[in-house]
Amino acid sequence: MSPASCAAIRGRAITFRANPFEVPPSDSLLVEDDALIVMKDGRISAFGAYDVVKAALPEGVTPVHYKDCLISAGFIDTHVHYPQLPVIAAWGEQLLEWLETYVFPAEAAFADEAVARDMAKHFLAELMRCGTTTAAVYCTSHPQSVEAFFAEAERLGARMIAGKVLMDRNAPDALRDTVQRGYDESSALIDRWHGKGRQLYAVTPRFAITSTPEQLEAAGDLLRRDASIFMQTHLAENLTEVDAVRRLFPDRRSYLDVYDHAGLVRPRSVFGHAIHVEEAELCRCHETGAALSHCPSSNLFLGSGAFRLFDALDSKRPVRVGLGSDVGAGTSLSQLRTMGEAYKVAQMTGRRLHAAQALWLATAGAARSLELDDRIGVIAPGMEADLCVLDPHATPLLQYRASHCESLEDLLFALTILGDDRCIRATWVGGACVHNLERDGGQ
Ligand code: GUN
Ligand code: ZN
Repeated sequence: MSPASCAAIRGRAITFRANPFEVPPSDSLLVEDDALIVMKDGRISAFGAYDVVKAALPEGVTPVHYKDCLISAGFIDTHVHYPQLPVIAAWGEQLLEWLETYVFPAEAAFADEAVARDMAKHFLAELMRCGTTTAAVYCTSHPQSVEAFFAEAERLGARMIAGKVLMDRNAPDALRDTVQRGYDESSALIDRWHGKGRQLYAVTPRFAITSTPEQLEAAGDLLRRDASIFMQTHLAENLTEVDAVRRLFPDRRSYLDVYDHAGLVRPRSVFGHAIHVEEAELCRCHETGAALSHCPSSNLFLGSGAFRLFDALDSKRPVRVGLGSDVGAGTSLSQLRTMGEAYKVAQMTGRRLHAAQALWLATAGAARSLELDDRIGVIAPGMEADLCVLDPHATPLLQYRASHCESLEDLLFALTILGDDRCIRATWVGGACVHNLERDGGQ
């Protein structure tokens, strides 16, 4: 083994031994105060107390020591739109008008592959700066937007999920495809990218309003080819949207049933938002293993409503849930910020989200929701070596607050409320350091 494919980091590590929604949150955490993590050929080869694991350190490998930091599994963002970076923080509209006014014009620019390449590079660099090592990403309806995204993700060696948006109605000419074109382009992208290195494909009908029943059926046909392909779409985000779907699909029992009828509700299906859903829809997600992506900053920004996280996770019929930034409706790519917003939305529904639960939704729980928990989401030997290093003293206010912290959980909570990209000291992807705040600064 050449030392070049091997690296190690040392510091306080925090990960999960159990689901904090199933056991007392404090018992779910696995904390190693002085940990050594050895990474070989893209995976974690050893993890444990420094004094014990140092014997496993190959000759010539000096661990990078992150003093006074917390090392976590890399964050996972289960719902984000890379072409929407230029319209993050766009003023004044709720969902449908926001799409028309800001999003569709921004996405039309991706007909130009140079625009897509430039944005993909910029977006993935931002994700790394935020400690996000895996994301489920919407591209645009242009296949070149997917090509540009996967090419850059592959260059970085990051495990990413992405897909071409399918839209064959209720969208501008420049963005609309047809049932056949959407099928053929998705099919070619699946053949080219699904399972290539760390890249994974998601069939991506935007939402029920912009796809005909025939296009949703065609999306189902694509999924039936291979159970390992992902599906991502939006579900019941906004009341006006829900009304429109009812009018467009009068024969369906519910919004989710529109997708279910087309064979889109299954494991590795990820539904963004699911704010205005009924019990039967949650039951169906539980039954099928479909996942929901909770996107709190987006829901607050667009005034969409408050996702009832604890209802979704009800132990009688728990639904898989991960956190999503949903940029450009979301207001930050930082999963620390997203965790903080999830806490506030839970407060609005009268519930208390523990810091360990928030971290789980952004790491191990997100991995579970994507059925990738055998590879990412926790720090353990055999897992892919995707890590982020958090600095709980990164700002003067955090430093001050940290000096008053009585426990690790208190510190973690402060990080979720006060922290953001400034707290990401380093990000490691597949065993390589792809972001180092001291080296790269704010870039
Ligand atoms: N519903 C359909 N498309 C979108 C989108 O791009 N963002 C959000 N937040 N909701 C959507
Ligand atoms: Zn979205």
